[in-house]
Amino acid sequence: MDINVAKQGNANKNTLFTIDLNRKCSLFLSLKIGDWMLDVELVRKDFPFLKQGRIYLDSTATSLTPEPVLNKMLEYYREYRANVGRGIYKASQIATEEFEKARNEVSRLINAKPEEMVLLRNTSEGINLVASGIKLKKGDKIVTTTLEHHSDFIVWQRASKRSGAALKVVGADSEGFMNLADFEKAIDDSTKIVAVSQVSNVLGVKPPVKEIAKIAHEHGALVLIDGAQSVPHSKVDVKAIGCDFLAFSGHKMCGPTGAGGLYMRELLLEEVEPLCIGGGTIEDVGLDYYRLKKGAAKFEAGTPAIAEVIGMGAAASYLMKLGMLEIESHEQKLTKRVVKGLEEIPNLTLYGPKEPAKRAGIFSFNVGRLHPHDLAMTLDVTAGVMVRSGHHCALPVIKEVIKAPNGTVRASVYIYNNNQDIDTFLATLEEISRTMA
Ligand code: ALA
Repeated sequence: MDINVAKQGNANKNTLFTIDLNRKCSLFLSLKIGDWMLDVELVRKDFPFLKQGRIYLDSTATSLTPEPVLNKMLEYYREYRANVGRGIYKASQIATEEFEKARNEVSRLINAKPEEMVLLRNTSEGINLVASGIKLKKGDKIVTTTLEHHSDFIVWQRASKRSGAALKVVGADSEGFMNLADFEKAIDDSTKIVAVSQVSNVLGVKPPVKEIAKIAHEHGALVLIDGAQSVPHSKVDVKAIGCDFLAFSGHKMCGPTGAGGLYMRELLLEEVEPLCIGGGTIEDVGLDYYRLKKGAAKFEAGTPAIAEVIGMGAAASYLMKLGMLEIESHEQKLTKRVVKGLEEIPNLTLYGPKEPAKRAGIFSFNVGRLHPHDLAMTLDVTAGVMVRSGHHCALPVIKEVIKAPNGTVRASVYIYNNNQDIDTFLATLEEISRTMA
């Protein structure tokens, strides 16, 4: 006989697991927190897109959105569709409360204080805000890496050109690993900022951001983390990393498009210049002066993406109810299965760390001489498997690290992917490799 037992300390209906009654007692005694698992089949029921029966393996580009998030956004449009921070009537007050609740939830997700959370459109906007808002000048140095997404790379190239600050790019080996000694060499007392991603969107490799932040701070440099690929998938703690800024996107963490967050360490809120100013950012205005608000509001000009921010807050709550450790552990299991399967496919080159434990659930590969776009299209047409192909907005990785001129095919997993998805993907790839490569 089977019974359903709710996960202790977490009453979410999505986190039920089934245990055999005869084994119940001994199993309970031996369970550790890390052993608790997502019930992926229950999670899948929350995602309407999956009803099409297709296999979505492109969550690194953008994730699917669950019903609780969709409902929360509809609730705003249906029940309190008003502007935030501007009206004294009830609907506007409810909208403002829900908006601020979202800020709290998103802050909680990365262990920031709500006052340190700037709400904007996406990771790119957050990084652009920092690059234009800190003071850079000739004689300063910016340090970044070859692993970065363009949003954390060309932004620094432009900041360097505009300000005269030097740009130093730290390299990686062919699996994507970087050497801390190279950061020790690159970062000196002239370094103003070090910008690095917590997980590479091409290779899934996880740079040692905590250690990099330590080196940077020893030289008085600021540290910006691109958290686009880490925040949705793992327990991110800005205090533990010790970073000054961390940017991420709501649409990659089960939220809607158009909302993202930038963590900014409290002490920096005063000195960083906003990217845009206007409505909502001022304390006072006269004909010949204006005074900006203090805190995150200073960076949030104009009517924000209200429904989207509220949706992003619901997405943060959804992920935290599932449990970030459970999510990480689920993806780690899928990662092992994918890596093992890919290694068995003839003519396939998998990029990034060989050891599954050293990578996130992102898999870039090529099969023989097949063009990545042809392979991706064949996966879609023959088996409904959706993957991304090309350069993944990260040409420095493609050109300098893995040297794959046409780019790669990239599959990626998330909370709603199950073993069946992986097995269909692998079997289809096998078939393509045997017949086309
Ligand atoms: N940054 C997203 C990706 O890697 C769009 O696909």
